[in-house]
Amino acid sequence: MTKQEMIHFLRQSIDSDRETENLIDYYRDATRGKQLPDAQIKNELTKIGEGIPVQYVTGISFFYTSQFTITQDVLIPRPETEELVHWVNSDLKSISRSLNILDIGCGSGCIGLSVKKKFPNHNIILNDLSSKAIKVAQLNADNLNLKIQTCQDSILEPIELKTIDVDIIISNPPYILPSELNRMDGHVFKHEPHLALFVDNDDPLEFYKAIVKYGLEKKVQAIYFETSDIFHNDLLKWIGETAYKCESRNDLQGKPRMIKVY
Ligand SMILES: C[S@@+](CC[C@H](N)C(=O)[O-])C[C@H]1O[C@@H](n2cnc3c(N)ncnc32)[C@H](O)[C@@H]1O
Repeated sequence: MTKQEMIHFLRQSIDSDRETENLIDYYRDATRGKQLPDAQIKNELTKIGEGIPVQYVTGISFFYTSQFTITQDVLIPRPETEELVHWVNSDLKSISRSLNILDIGCGSGCIGLSVKKKFPNHNIILNDLSSKAIKVAQLNADNLNLKIQTCQDSILEPIELKTIDVDIIISNPPYILPSELNRMDGHVFKHEPHLALFVDNDDPLEFYKAIVKYGLEKKVQAIYFETSDIFHNDLLKWIGETAYKCESRNDLQGKPRMIKVY
């Protein structure tokens, strides 16, 4: 199918010209080099037209400088998270010795693997509670030819995590309250893994508090967090009550979305 034919086909189920074109551009990039039969292309475009994210339909997500394989067991990597990776990588430039860097709640592995690709001398440990996410992260490490360690464990009740050496933590943990469901984009709720999105109880800082506590026990040098803009200040206030200092950054849209704890 030509690009124009794809646009015409998808436009029947999508209201806007611009969105249709963006989705087709993404689809063509993600399937580049594959000789897909027209029937398969139509089948996949139908799914996209029904609202399944193009990243899940193609199994491909572009993040930072790499292409990641994704399944519906992992969150679709977000552009804000690239900004967090950029912050970590800028700080690592001035450090020559090899560090143990732990990515908590790694999902597809997009954060830890993007750091490892830039700084192969550091030891990266990818953690997630989900064994399916760990499999996807390991597959991405293999595809990118990167050697990493994995650790399947819960940061809320760490067992194996207690046994490893850690110098730096990076995390984009779950932070959505079940009560926030009504203000969420329906596609996110319907297609992305709930384990990646929601906290169990009524404290959106649950994971952040557990990670800071773990970081204190491990005497880590720094923790880099992605946060929601909604409770960003609550988190800063809470960290202010611990032994750590912190620095906050906005994302490119001007929203407070990242914190470095040190
Ligand atoms: C917001 S997603 C982030 C995924 C990925 N790091 C990214 O930025 O795209 C949060 C991740 O935390 C994982 N997770 C949920 N509960 C966890 C727990 N108790 N311990 C460790 N990881 C957990 C989820 O499986 C999910 O992969």
